[in-house]
Amino acid sequence: MGGDPAPRGDFAVLTDADLAAFREILGDDNVRTDARSLDACNEDWMRKYRGNAGVLLLPARTSQVSAILRHCNARGLAVVPQGGNTGLVGGGVPVHDEIVLGMRRMNAVLSVDPVAGTVVCEAGCVLEDLEHALNARGMTAPLDLGAKGRCQIGGNVSTNAGGLRLVRHGSLHGSVLGLEVVTADGTVLDLVRTLRKDNTGYDLKQLFIGAEGTLGVVTKVAMLAPRKPTGVDVAVCAVGSFADAVAALRDARTKLGDCLQAFEFFDRASLELVLSTLRGARDPLPKTKAPFYVVTETAVFGDGSGKGSVTHRAARRRVRAWVRSLRKRGVAIDGVVGEDAKHASALWNLRERISVALKHAGAVYKYDVSLPTERMYDLVVETRNRLAASTSASTSTSTSASTSAASTSFDASKVSVLGYGHLGDGNLHLNVSSPDGYHPGLEAILEPFVYQWTAEQRGSISAEHGVGAMKPRELAHSKDEASIEAMRRVKEVFDPRGILNPYKVLPPRLTEHRSKL
Ligand code: FAD
Ligand code: MLT
Ligand code: ZN
Repeated sequence: MGGDPAPRGDFAVLTDADLAAFREILGDDNVRTDARSLDACNEDWMRKYRGNAGVLLLPARTSQVSAILRHCNARGLAVVPQGGNTGLVGGGVPVHDEIVLGMRRMNAVLSVDPVAGTVVCEAGCVLEDLEHALNARGMTAPLDLGAKGRCQIGGNVSTNAGGLRLVRHGSLHGSVLGLEVVTADGTVLDLVRTLRKDNTGYDLKQLFIGAEGTLGVVTKVAMLAPRKPTGVDVAVCAVGSFADAVAALRDARTKLGDCLQAFEFFDRASLELVLSTLRGARDPLPKTKAPFYVVTETAVFGDGSGKGSVTHRAARRRVRAWVRSLRKRGVAIDGVVGEDAKHASALWNLRERISVALKHAGAVYKYDVSLPTERMYDLVVETRNRLAASTSASTSTSTSASTSAASTSFDASKVSVLGYGHLGDGNLHLNVSSPDGYHPGLEAILEPFVYQWTAEQRGSISAEHGVGAMKPRELAHSKDEASIEAMRRVKEVFDPRGILNPYKVLPPRLTEHRSKL
């Protein structure tokens, strides 16, 4: 799993005096050392990464976050900010015994401005709760993801989460208008603004978007909250090849244009897994066994009375006509448009819940890459070929390190390779499901191959999940050494003692000694 963990370094060890100081700041109830609290915060959602934190701290106010960090910085205690703990790269859990700073009590929606289309909330606000609060005002959050019931806005900002509707709303680098951040020594940066225009020098907030808790703790978020559509339509089309999926995307961009909110895809292996694993899941097009499926979501705004606006019924007719035209032209084999909200949500679930199905199936190696759209699926094919070649070679006389490890440690017949993702964003999720658990032999077949292949296409080794604990040593596949060094220098500005989420994102310098502490 990404090799051995980074060495602990010489961070201070938590003492009773530290716990007493935290109790002074937070009160007894919010300094958790019981086994249940620690178990939950030490392990990630996938059950792949596990740390050994001795305390979970639960602040309710920015001033408490500031006091905690001031104390930790002075003492040289390492800290992991944790949101909903749904991250997929091990960024939100400790590697060793870092203190976990859980943000869930800071969950207030502070202000909503329907005229400006903006919202300000605390970082621990759960995405789905924010969505409900905004829906009540005719608005929506500028992102949506399968983890919405648990992930927090602070976590979303800190991972620069992409999700299912980036096609419509763009990235959080555009939607986030302002942040409040506490840096390592307890300094509070008040960058909370709801202005659309603000050219007052360096745009500092951008540095914290996607910083994965390594530069500061995000405590408040101001962001755009667009109008909620008055109706949405979901369509699933079966296509005969990945090239046809791309052709359907090209067609959707011109024919569905501004209405398009999401354009996703999954392959047959993903569908089979969802159907066999998740209760209530149904094949959307049972008469067709296609190799690929595309999912579109289109939105309509207004009631059809304004100039150029259409009713939801008319919009649905347009989507149906589009699906028919894809079939007529041979781009799609078959297609279905959600009849009502329940049907639409069942269709969406087939895509949105693939990661949940994978978790049910056992261990999974997850790769989240950006690639040129046309070539995206080649990586899935190459990975399958490589796995097949490695395992057949291991039964003959091959002596390569990876194949000999593979032959002794896992049953390749149980391993499956799945491809799905955000086709409209050029973002592939390559997943290798290993029901029998994680195996060094299997990992050796996959890595560094996946990263090298991605680098050869000038892709990104992390499209949206981040670097976390999984990929610091792989960062050089996507960034040159000068850029990585510039990142290290930014880290030194906000966190000179390196206490914030150590071992994550940045690879250590070759000559690095932790002599600062
Ligand atoms: P955590 O997992 O708790 O933390 C993630 C990182 O952010 C860590 O490095 C942590 O230290 C840091 N962090 C958390 N809160 C703060 C804070 N307040 N200040 C500073 N740092 C902080 N991701 C996508 O991009 N797109 C998807 O479509 C998507 N779908 C998912 C579906 C499922 C079912 C699951 C389980 C995950 C999915 N993810 C997706 C990954 C994950 O949900 C996102 O990365 C999410 O943004 C993490 O939010 P969180 O609150 O759970 O953060
Ligand atoms: C998704 O798009 O479903 C998420 O990013 C989670 C995953 O990659 O499994
Ligand atoms: Zn995704």
